[in-house]
Amino acid sequence: MIFYEPSSRDRGLLPHDPFKSLVAPRPIGWVSTRSASGAVNLAPYSFFNAVGENPPMLAFSSNGAKDSSTFAGEIDEFVWNLVTWELREAMNETSAPLPRGSSEFERAALEMAPRAWWRRRASPPVPARWSVASSTTSSCTTWTGARATSTS
Ligand SMILES: Cc1cc2nc3c(=O)[nH]c(=O)nc-3n(C[C@H](O)[C@H](O)[C@H](O)COP(=O)(O)O)c2cc1C
Repeated sequence: MIFYEPSSRDRGLLPHDPFKSLVAPRPIGWVSTRSASGAVNLAPYSFFNAVGENPPMLAFSSNGAKDSSTFAGEIDEFVWNLVTWELREAMNETSAPLPRGSSEFERAALEMAPRAWWRRRASPPVPARWSVASSTTSSCTTWTGARATSTS
């Protein structure tokens, strides 16, 4: 039995904080957003999941305020795009920290689906080579500061 506390763990026993690998595998939320002023953004979030069915709810968690969480809060909407194996490298590219306003779509050489298509259902754009995209409106932002403790 090991008692494990992320903030004061035994670094001899656990050199790397195992928190992220304790709940695994996790799906990746490839989150696309649009700001109130029209900037577009795309980034991967592994703290992501479907969290309810009726109504259908998706959630992602940002480690501090990032463009995705900021933009999603601005227009109360984000889109989850499913990352397929063939898009894995492009997905990784979109995790690079870029200055606000620079498009991850351009950096990862990802084509956006035609505007006429995605504007029908959602404000944020989606990659043209996506497999499944699910848009969610009326977002709720929660700030958490809970201490995680687990035993194994
Ligand atoms: C596979 C993968 C999963 C990630 N999951 C998260 C996550 O759950 N939360 C988070 O804050 N950052 C996560 N990141 C890092 C963000 O993608 C990265 O900080 C990105 O620059 C954020 O972009 P944004 O500022 O445009 O939203 C992840 C990166 C990768 C490659």
